[in-house]
Amino acid sequence: MEIELKNIWYSYDSYTYVLKDVNLVLREPGLYVVVGPNGSGKTTLLKILSLIIKPSKGSVLVNGRDFWVLGDDEKSLIRKSIVYVHDKPVLLRGSVRYNVELGLRLRGEKRGDEVLEYISRYGLREVLDKPVNKLSAGQAKAMTIVRALILKPKILALDEPFTFLDNTKVKLLIEDIQRIVRDGGIVVIATHYMYRDLEDISKNVIEVVNGEVATLSSVKKNPTL
Ligand SMILES: Nc1ncnc2c1ncn2[C@@H]1O[C@H](COP(=O)(O)OP(=O)(O)O)[C@@H](O)[C@H]1O
Ligand SMILES: [Mg+2]
Repeated sequence: MEIELKNIWYSYDSYTYVLKDVNLVLREPGLYVVVGPNGSGKTTLLKILSLIIKPSKGSVLVNGRDFWVLGDDEKSLIRKSIVYVHDKPVLLRGSVRYNVELGLRLRGEKRGDEVLEYISRYGLREVLDKPVNKLSAGQAKAMTIVRALILKPKILALDEPFTFLDNTKVKLLIEDIQRIVRDGGIVVIATHYMYRDLEDISKNVIEVVNGEVATLSSVKKNPTL
């Protein structure tokens, strides 16, 4: 899968642009790290890449086809390949188990044992039947990440995935991200803080400053990624 942003502009209020003429290509396999200060436009960029919001100007090409002119059926089909995880955990009602499995149910998929493996891996086994609104911030964040990981999307977009997570979970997530990329997927991460562990595996760094892509680097630090 390949996503290309061509001359993307975005405005929330229709007079100031928070993204200005952004050009980018994401292709598999790949880990892309979007860095930049608060308010620079990382979340907006991730939501455009994840096909959640439509750019004010410019085009989003999915495998060479202009996504926003496609029909609704084709749009929903393509959207199934992409999962975006919000920076602040979006919690539904019900238990951890219910929330984690909801994504799978909506897609008509079952993963059984694998779901439990991920749940245990991220320390959520003890809180499996707890209502999600009673979780700690870190547990809630881990839950939304597990919910996305088990869907095995072609493109996984993680918005500030490390905030709230403890060091152990940060390391686990970095391992999972590496594995997804090794298996041929695309992972795109927005972060205002570059973790050492992440830096070691970041080949493609996209620096956003004030709505513009300031630097685009493709450093071959780790030939396996
Ligand atoms: N829903 C919104 N309505 C209006 N302005 C917004 C909205 N979301 C973000 N912004 C503004 O857009 C700019 C970029 O925000 P964002 O993409 O969230 O940046 P980042 O993720 O890098 O912190 C900021 O100036 C922010 O205030
Ligand atoms: Mg953000």
